[in-house]
Amino acid sequence: MNVALGVGGGIAAYKAAELARALMERGFTVEVVMTRAAEEFIRPLTFAALTGRKVHTHLFSAASAEDTLASAIEHIRVAQENQLLVVAPATADLLAKFTHGLADDLLTTTYLAFTGTVVLAPAMNTNMWNHPASQTNMQVLRGRGHVVVEPGEGLLACGMIGPGRLAEPDQIADAVLAASKTKKPRRDLDGETILITAGPTQEPIDGVRYLSNRSSGKMGYALAEEAVARGARVTLISGPVNLPAPLGATLVPVRTALEMRQAVMDRLSEATIVVKAAAVADYHIPNPSKQKMKKTAARLSLDLEPTPDILAELGAKKGDRLLIGFAAETDNMVEEARRKLQQKNCDMVVGNVVSHVVSHVASQQGTGFESDENEVVLVTRAGETIPVARASKRAIAGRIFDEAMRLRLALHASR
Ligand code: C5P
Repeated sequence: MNVALGVGGGIAAYKAAELARALMERGFTVEVVMTRAAEEFIRPLTFAALTGRKVHTHLFSAASAEDTLASAIEHIRVAQENQLLVVAPATADLLAKFTHGLADDLLTTTYLAFTGTVVLAPAMNTNMWNHPASQTNMQVLRGRGHVVVEPGEGLLACGMIGPGRLAEPDQIADAVLAASKTKKPRRDLDGETILITAGPTQEPIDGVRYLSNRSSGKMGYALAEEAVARGARVTLISGPVNLPAPLGATLVPVRTALEMRQAVMDRLSEATIVVKAAAVADYHIPNPSKQKMKKTAARLSLDLEPTPDILAELGAKKGDRLLIGFAAETDNMVEEARRKLQQKNCDMVVGNVVSHVVSHVASQQGTGFESDENEVVLVTRAGETIPVARASKRAIAGRIFDEAMRLRLALHASR
């Protein structure tokens, strides 16, 4: 198996020579790409002698005019011919560039062109490592599925004691070996632009009160995470929830059903798949007072008006898009899901039973709203009824996209 070893410009660059040897001992063929800063710490000749291969140093290294084209596309060749990209030491600067997709030298362009497994071994001064900028970058890079070989603690070259030391070469090489045996996640949603709605909506009664429901948003957020992991561009339109924004998705926070409708319609043209997991309020109070209503001893009735049915409106103008709705039901779940599929012109409706939410305590062991798990039935335009056994919401999200992609092929084939 071929490994591209990216060497960054840090004092630990000398350890990359030992790493190259440790990788070769584990059976890898190693091709080294150095940054200009790395060359200040260790000479390319060291790596050339160890690996027996040409060492790549910069983007435009052509010695003659004939070599110009080959040199201009060198990063593409390195990216294509290697199954793993290992970066050690991964400096603060490299991590920031990878995070933001900056590509101004051979290593950063290779990173962008690379579709295989990435292993990062960071090394830097303790304060640089602990800085929120570096930690945020690491969070993004981990979210992309890169393997991170954590820096160790100890005496650093700058005299400080703390985290930031490059992991030992054998430890990094073992992590690369383990990563080479792990199956890469599927990227079958590459090229899709998916619009997902999640969470409840809140419909104001007055300046401080609102009507809402017990949706936690967990199902919609799990769908967004799964879609990002499988390569889709994801926009998540979310009502108010207590969940961290899924990495890699564009989050559009909304509050009311009307705001959610507007956010969905504004982005519909770019979407290839729309998943309506939100528990949209069915009624709202038109023009609620901005002031807090005074309490009196008299009975109070609220005059509620139906909200627009976003899913039904999408069904009417969906075109070739795959449209997936949800039906949270307390009874007759499959019949209700099928009725909604037809009425709202969906391709799939995910039916789930939410009877457990009647009791708050029971809901902790239940499925549906608030729970981390779900048990659903998928009804499809092709007439299928597919039960999906109880599983984590992320696993259920995986099944929904599996069946949606299969359904699209079946619908195309039957045209
Ligand atoms: O008809 P019901 O509200 O049970 O249908 C649920 C499905 O319809 C969900 O996918 C939900 O997101 C969507 N819906 C909507 N707009 C509404 C009400 C529900 O898009 N006003």
